[in-house]
Amino acid sequence: MFAMILLTGATGYIGSHTWVELLNAGHEVIGIDNLCNSSEKLLARVESITNIKPNFIRGDIRNIDVLRKIFQSHNIDCVVHFAALKAVGESVEKPLEYYDNNINGLLQLLRTCNEFSCENFVFSSSATVYHTENNPPYFENMALGPVNPYGWTKMMSEQILRNFEVASLSTRVAYLRYFNPVGAHASGLIGENPLGAPNNLMPYIAQVAVGRRELLSIYGGDWPTVDGTGVRDYIHVVDLAKGHMAAIDYLTQQKKSLTVNLGTGVGTSVLQLVHAFEIASKKKIPYEIVSRRVGDIAVSYANTDLAKKLMGWSAHMGVDQMCQDVWRWQSNNPSGY
Ligand code: NAD
Ligand code: WQD
Repeated sequence: MFAMILLTGATGYIGSHTWVELLNAGHEVIGIDNLCNSSEKLLARVESITNIKPNFIRGDIRNIDVLRKIFQSHNIDCVVHFAALKAVGESVEKPLEYYDNNINGLLQLLRTCNEFSCENFVFSSSATVYHTENNPPYFENMALGPVNPYGWTKMMSEQILRNFEVASLSTRVAYLRYFNPVGAHASGLIGENPLGAPNNLMPYIAQVAVGRRELLSIYGGDWPTVDGTGVRDYIHVVDLAKGHMAAIDYLTQQKKSLTVNLGTGVGTSVLQLVHAFEIASKKKIPYEIVSRRVGDIAVSYANTDLAKKLMGWSAHMGVDQMCQDVWRWQSNNPSGY
């Protein structure tokens, strides 16, 4: 077990669920977030689930003085780095903001890790780094080739970390490539809370079900898939959070880096997800099929053998459970936090 883990982007969607799992497992954690895409109200929710007051600093990871203060006053020996901007469409409109936040933030963190000899690093990468010409399932050794600035920041971050590993021989990195995280904590107290209109499918469906939005637009009904709608590998956020714990254990025990997909290996179409949500929520989800979204692909899902082989981790929850948990969260918190 580590002396202390620093979570960046701690109040965000995946960060908060990972925070809960780490605290429940007895880890000492300090969280940092600048709240650009999350709310401080989350902290009380984490406390009610875990009975532990979360140790939180409001700050920007691009500010190295803030990072140094944290490392000076805590014995941080592992960083789990979630903090990033993540909206694909916005990244096309504001590429410089994305490169500044996601790349510069990583550089400041690595400089601080270097100064304070923090040798374990868990990085939030994404399935979006894979080249779209690969045929799914995606294996970790397949060609990379992002198609938008957000994806490029993830691929470049992986590259920066790989170069940093060579220079700083004792650094170990877990490169975790998430597929489509959805779901919420079983308590219904924490969940995905997009500010503004959701970019992603599951939170959009949930907001239609709860009456915040009228109609779901389905981007394309003529994809070469089971029912013509896009197929993705949805993974429950709590399974994903546990994947981070498995990665932390791997870094400590094996003292080696690893690159693994975190997905279920199962593809679900948009219409299949809509129907599963209708059953979970007992609500009708009105939808219309519109034209394809620029940049989308037909099918994306993971091969998950490597994560199982190296870390002994695999996802356990299926789409029905994901929908039930999202509905509990959304119906208990119709306007978010
Ligand atoms: P999120 O937006 O909910 O969480 C990210 C958090 O980082 C937010 O709370 C935000 O306020 C914070 N943040 C951003 N820039 C910061 C900065 N400079 N300093 C301090 N805090 C900052 O997103 P999420 O869905 O929890 O994603 C977490 C990580 O996982 C991100 O790196 C994202 O790119 C990656 N990821 C997410 C998905 C997904 O679909 N959700 C898929 C693959 C990878
Ligand atoms: C899923 C499916 C859409 C919204 C994105 C990022 C990726 C990663 C995860 C961070 C697709 C369809 C969606 C809607 C729809 N993020 N859809 N109507 O595009 O697989 O991945 O989030 O790393 O980088 O690109 O996820 O949830 O946006 O879409 O029909 O209103 O739902 O076309 O088939 P995606 P998504």
